[in-house]
Amino acid sequence: MSFEGGDGAGKSTQARALADRLRALGREVVLTREPGGTPLGVELRQALLHGDHVDPRAEVLLYAADRAHHVASLVRPALERGAVVITDRYLDSSVAYQGSGRDLGADEVERISLWATGGLLPAVTVLLDLDPDVGRTRLTGDPDRLERAGDDFHRRTRAAFLARAEQDPGRWLVLDATLPVDELAAHVFARVAAAGGFADAVPSASSGAGAA
Ligand code: TMP
Repeated sequence: MSFEGGDGAGKSTQARALADRLRALGREVVLTREPGGTPLGVELRQALLHGDHVDPRAEVLLYAADRAHHVASLVRPALERGAVVITDRYLDSSVAYQGSGRDLGADEVERISLWATGGLLPAVTVLLDLDPDVGRTRLTGDPDRLERAGDDFHRRTRAAFLARAEQDPGRWLVLDATLPVDELAAHVFARVAAAGGFADAVPSASSGAGAA
């Protein structure tokens, strides 16, 4: 399953809380993130977030490269041995940030990402929805390249996440990120538990959609 949302929405906190709860129930959990879930990904993350200017199309491809390697080397093997994978951001971030934020076209960015992952989609995606103005006040440290992208960019990204979630309510759970942490965690756990098998229908790299 994946967590999505703007910066400062509390994704990492909720991902950790869910992992702790599932581990306490005896499940193997792989807690990971994009970009940067693998050693190669750490290098790509550095280039994407803290390097010099990256052309928007190159940005799409670098996120897709991070994702392809992440899925092939970490996510699929974990799902195949029955682990629960919790990823802090996945393909929907590319569709929202590069497709709508950078205005490169959501459909095309989604196609590139699906090709990169061999069609692997999460069984559950939680959107922690937050006004970007509020999110900004929650950030600490120097803003990275994407955090500096401007108010319009972040408003477009938020709207894109919400529109995407509305189109596929079977996969998405949208939560108001200003709710108390424990309340959010309870909603997330209930949805993930209701989804039952966390690693159902793992597609082969060459087949269509599946679940992570
Ligand atoms: P985060 O790990 O702190 O959320 O930072 C990752 C940043 O990268 C965040 O600003 C969102 C951005 N991002 C994209 O623009 N596209 C993507 O596909 C992903 C995974 C992240």
